[in-house]
Amino acid sequence: MARNVLKVKEQKDRYQVCYMAGDDSGFDMMEGALLVLESLNLPIDWVRADLGWCMWEKSIQKFGEGDPRCNTVPPETIESIRKTDATLMAAITSKAGVKGFKSAILQMRQLFDLYINLRPAKTLPGVGTPLKGDPKVDIVLFRENTEDLYSAVEFFPLPAEHYELHKGMERFKKMGDVAVSWRVFSTVGCERIIRAAFEYAKATGRTTVHCCNKANVIRETDGLMKRLFLQIAKEYEQFGIKGIEENADATAMWLIKNPQDYQVIVASNVFGDILSDEASQLTGGLGFAPSGNIGEGTALFEPSSGSVPKYAHQYRVNPSAMVLTAKMMLEYLGLDDAAKKIEKALGEVLVESKPGTLTYDVLRDFRGDPNWEKNAASTIDMAAAIAGKINPAFAGKVLEDAKAKVHAMCDWTKTVGFED
Ligand code: IPM
Ligand code: MG
Repeated sequence: MARNVLKVKEQKDRYQVCYMAGDDSGFDMMEGALLVLESLNLPIDWVRADLGWCMWEKSIQKFGEGDPRCNTVPPETIESIRKTDATLMAAITSKAGVKGFKSAILQMRQLFDLYINLRPAKTLPGVGTPLKGDPKVDIVLFRENTEDLYSAVEFFPLPAEHYELHKGMERFKKMGDVAVSWRVFSTVGCERIIRAAFEYAKATGRTTVHCCNKANVIRETDGLMKRLFLQIAKEYEQFGIKGIEENADATAMWLIKNPQDYQVIVASNVFGDILSDEASQLTGGLGFAPSGNIGEGTALFEPSSGSVPKYAHQYRVNPSAMVLTAKMMLEYLGLDDAAKKIEKALGEVLVESKPGTLTYDVLRDFRGDPNWEKNAASTIDMAAAIAGKINPAFAGKVLEDAKAKVHAMCDWTKTVGFED
């Protein structure tokens, strides 16, 4: 039987984990998450690496604009991801229209063939859903992470010979310049993400897997995905798991109407990108949304959202998405007890809603506090509240020492990479 890729290849007594604080507000959220992890006394040795816009700027300073070595990901970072057991990454910023700039996370997904993007959306105590009747949401979405319109095979203007590839291009000949992005689905790519979703359902006792596609219109790509899904679904009937395929636009609608009807969703890259943001909004929004990019031997965990450049180094952002991302990473490493403690502690802090423990977004969006700006706790205060729930001894000098330690770990003036 194939190995369970959602778990680390080799369970160890101690792990080496690469951490990357990302860009601007990413540093703040990573500092918060590391503080929470400090309270757990984990068997982890941390290895710092950096990537993102900050490294793009650093590479330009070093090599000069236009140099092919300029990148958002330094070679040292690739090496660190490769040699450690898992990677924890904070939010980064994506810039459109900067010549030569390539998204760091998209590069990592392709380079390490991280074909599963695992995106859970689960109702949090004290946050709930924005929906009538507050239905219980517990969805795990498997987004294909390397193909589709993210294959980066694009043309503008379309070269003349491409118009002859298909008779359907005839009508575009008189439409001025044409842009085309290839939507590539491979048999292997579809099959492995579908199998990952069913295997997860089987391992966790979930009884349905929905495949969200547009095979009714997009016959070849989505058609392939749908055919393979229905074929593979048959293998899992014996385990009491039902495969349901439906149009992705209908899913977008039903997720609002009946989110409790979904347990596991499998979707192609673009549909999964969109549906996972929608699902996250049912459970608190991107401030609470974790994700894992997982391949055969490598896993990189990151919040589902980007960073917030305007809040850079102000410690205003909610650490929850990063904390829940760290929790997912602990599950990957088999440190399930620690993962459970994090989830419980976050829930308690949210439910208790004590002054000085919740960031501005929680007060504004979930507590209706008109003075949310004034009453907002910092990223570190909220993280300290969570850490204190996990470990009551995490107070006074112990807490202050831990704060100083994680602050130094996330020093944004000391990025690693592009060294001589
Ligand atoms: C996500 C993000 C990324 C994506 C961006 C930042 C490249 O939206 O992880 O969902 O499109 O995959
Ligand atoms: Mg997205």
